[in-house]
Amino acid sequence: MLSARLKLDPRSAVGPINRRLFGGFVEHMGRGVYGGIYEPGHPTADEEGFRRDVIELVREMGISTFRYPGGNFVSGYRWEDSVGPREQRPTRLNLAWHSKETNEFGLHEFASWLEKVDGELMLALNLGTRGPLEALDLLEYVNVPAGTTLAEQRIANGRPAPFDVRMWCLGNEMDGPWQLGHRSADDYGKIASQTAKAMRQVDPTVELVACGSSGAGMPTFGEWERTVLSHTYDDVDYISCHAYYEEKNGDLGSFLASAVDMDGFIESVVATADHVKSVRKSERTIAISFDEWNVWYLSRVPQDLAKGLDDWPLNPPLSEEPYTVADGVVVGSLLMSLLRHADRVTSASIAQVVNVIAPIAAEPGGPAWRKSTFFPFSVTSRLARGTSLKVDLDTPEYDTQEHGRVGVVDAAASFDAEAGTGAVFLVNRSEREEVRVTIELAGLDVTTIGEALTLADSDPHAANTTEEPTRVGLRENPSATLADGVLELTLPPVSWTAVALA
Ligand code: AHR
Repeated sequence: MLSARLKLDPRSAVGPINRRLFGGFVEHMGRGVYGGIYEPGHPTADEEGFRRDVIELVREMGISTFRYPGGNFVSGYRWEDSVGPREQRPTRLNLAWHSKETNEFGLHEFASWLEKVDGELMLALNLGTRGPLEALDLLEYVNVPAGTTLAEQRIANGRPAPFDVRMWCLGNEMDGPWQLGHRSADDYGKIASQTAKAMRQVDPTVELVACGSSGAGMPTFGEWERTVLSHTYDDVDYISCHAYYEEKNGDLGSFLASAVDMDGFIESVVATADHVKSVRKSERTIAISFDEWNVWYLSRVPQDLAKGLDDWPLNPPLSEEPYTVADGVVVGSLLMSLLRHADRVTSASIAQVVNVIAPIAAEPGGPAWRKSTFFPFSVTSRLARGTSLKVDLDTPEYDTQEHGRVGVVDAAASFDAEAGTGAVFLVNRSEREEVRVTIELAGLDVTTIGEALTLADSDPHAANTTEEPTRVGLRENPSATLADGVLELTLPPVSWTAVALA
């Protein structure tokens, strides 16, 4: 058995954990909305056609903020189509996902669903095929209380109080050649700055997110952020990051260390933002909105979505990932990376929520159930409260093809001084060996273990399925003990663990 040591000290803090770190992303893609959160006629559907079984699972996941309605979808989106009497809403082409969009479910329906899951609405704007004027119109419709044509239209559409949306994404992945209206960094930076300035004339208190790169692997990564922020530094509050990970060619060792890549990605974007800050001699600091992250087997996505002028399916199933235990372990460790950077990453959205790249499966007319990635998210969202702590970690290491030499154990921790509670999150990346971990907690003044939960399986590629929806999940870790300020426990191979302390 391997061994590792950790030390936690409440005086050594990263920063406060913003609840928005536990956000999600709902896009009009595949069966994410239709057949996911909305399925009139389903045995659990409520009076608005929302699946109650899905609502319950979303609440259990503890998702705070929901980015909507895309994604690539937003770059062809006309928000006006999605409001007003349903029978008058047009059916459009969803060019991003080669399907038909009926607009039966739109802005008001999503806001109403959010009330049921207790979530905050974060809107993405179309800066691909549209521009500042349409962004202003939407902002007026959504946030102006009354007395203008658009605000009165919202009221007539059944919503007297403004939606009061705080966070707005200025477009989506505008660096990606696949994006409708894809632009150069200079062109995008200019339109993002103009749009932001105009929006602040309507509502100076909105929080604005400029598009960063759609991934750290993009050829323009780094230079894109520098150029975009050079145009927008005084106008925006956040720059976005997007990252998806997958196990490639059976290289589980590299995949399990995906958080090493996420750490580096975040630190590069922070460095670039701070470079622009120093060049501009600015007092402001730009935060990161990691508004798309997850495990996604992009290499399995069919590249032949475009099928022809007369073939636009309605809500075709897309990217309904089976998610293995290893995938769940990686999702847990990506959350640990976000916690480690809580001083700069103050908003993040797991992409996505139901059916599409999702921790929740919703079968048509059938049950909804949890995939392996559901568990680390729900537990981290519940336990990671207060302040993120720096972790002093001494761990064995191993070599990976993708990330060089990395720690076998990865860890993150939180402490809520007011509540007198803490939490430690741990990953064992070893494919074969258990790790005995010793954690010094002296400064935390905690004396009891509330719970110690582990996600692991003798087969790291085991997954929940329709036939066996509870095959994998959390188990109590009976090895955890806490005495004299020292927590000890054993981590099984390829596992994620959370320990709650009080
Ligand atoms: O989440 C799926 C897609 O991934 C989003 O539409 C896009 O922004 C990203 O490339």
